[in-house]
Amino acid sequence: MKVDELAVLITGGARGIGGATARLLAEGGARVMITDVLDEEGAALAAQLGPRVQYRHLDVTDATGWQGAVAAAEEAFGKLNALFNNAGVLSFGTVADCTEADFRRVQDINVPGVFLGIRTCAPAIRRAGGGAIVNNSSTAGMQGYTGIAAYVASKWAVRGLTKAAALDLARDGIRVVSLHPGPIRTPMTDDLPREMAETQPLPRFGEPEEVATMTRFLLCEATYTTGTEFVIDGGAIVGRLEPVTER
Ligand SMILES: NC(=O)c1ccc[n+]([C@@H]2O[C@H](COP(=O)([O-])OP(=O)(O)OC[C@H]3O[C@@H](n4cnc5c(N)ncnc54)[C@H](O)[C@@H]3O)[C@@H](O)[C@H]2O)c1
Repeated sequence: MKVDELAVLITGGARGIGGATARLLAEGGARVMITDVLDEEGAALAAQLGPRVQYRHLDVTDATGWQGAVAAAEEAFGKLNALFNNAGVLSFGTVADCTEADFRRVQDINVPGVFLGIRTCAPAIRRAGGGAIVNNSSTAGMQGYTGIAAYVASKWAVRGLTKAAALDLARDGIRVVSLHPGPIRTPMTDDLPREMAETQPLPRFGEPEEVATMTRFLLCEATYTTGTEFVIDGGAIVGRLEPVTER
C-alpha cells in the first residue's frame, strides 16, 4: 500500500514515537487520526501537520472511546485501513518492590489498550478491504530486564497478542506485527542514563524518527509478513561489547 493510501489511527500519538510516526506518514500523504490523553500536545501537532490530520482524545483503556474514535476516523477519511497501537507506560520496580497496584496499572494500559485497538479497528479495516496493524512492544518483550518487571510482563503480552491476532485476522487480509524498539530518545526515557547505550553495537539511543521509518515500512511495504517481530535497538539484544576476559 502506498503511504498516501493509508488512513491510519495512532494511539499515544501526541509526542515521542507516535508523534514522529504521525508526522512521517502525514508528510507522505497519509490521512492520520492522532489519539492520546495529552489533548493540548495532540491537537497542536495535528494543527501543525495540516488538514489531512486530526486529533481526538482517546484513553486506550476505554472501550466506548475506541468505538467513537474508529467511527470518527471512518467518517473523516471514508475508511480506516491501518492502526499503530503505540500508547504505553513505563514504570520502575523489580518483582520484589513493584507494588501490586502499579503492576496492575501498567498491564491495564499496555495490554487491554492493544487488545481493544485490534478488536475495534479490525471490522473497519476489513470494510476497507484489508490493511495492517503494528503493535508497539519493546525489546522488553524479547528478553528480561531487571528493575522494570511490570513493563516486561506487559510487553511480552503485546508480543503474544500480536501472534494470536495475526492468525485470527489473516483471512480478513489484515496483517498484524509487533515492533520492538530498544532505547529511543523520547519523554519516556528522559530519566534513563544515556550511558546505558554505550555497550550496544550502535552506541546511542535511537531517534523516534528511526522507529517511524520502520513503522511506515511495516504498514505499507511489508506485504508478505504477519505475526512476527521487528527489532529496532542498535543491536542491543544481539549482545553487548563487553569483552570476555580471563580471570
Ligand atoms: N522510548 C523507548 O525507549 C521505547 C522503547 C521500547 C518501546 N517503547 C514503546 O513505545 C511506545 C511509545 O513510547 P514513547 O517512547 O514514545 O513514550 P511517550 O511517553 O513519549 O509516549 C507515550 C504516549 O502514550 C500516551 N499514553 C499513555 N497512556 C495512555 C492511555 N491510557 N491512553 C492513551 N494514550 C496514552 C502518552 O500520553 C504519550 O503521549 C510505548 O508503548 C513504549 O512502551 C518505547
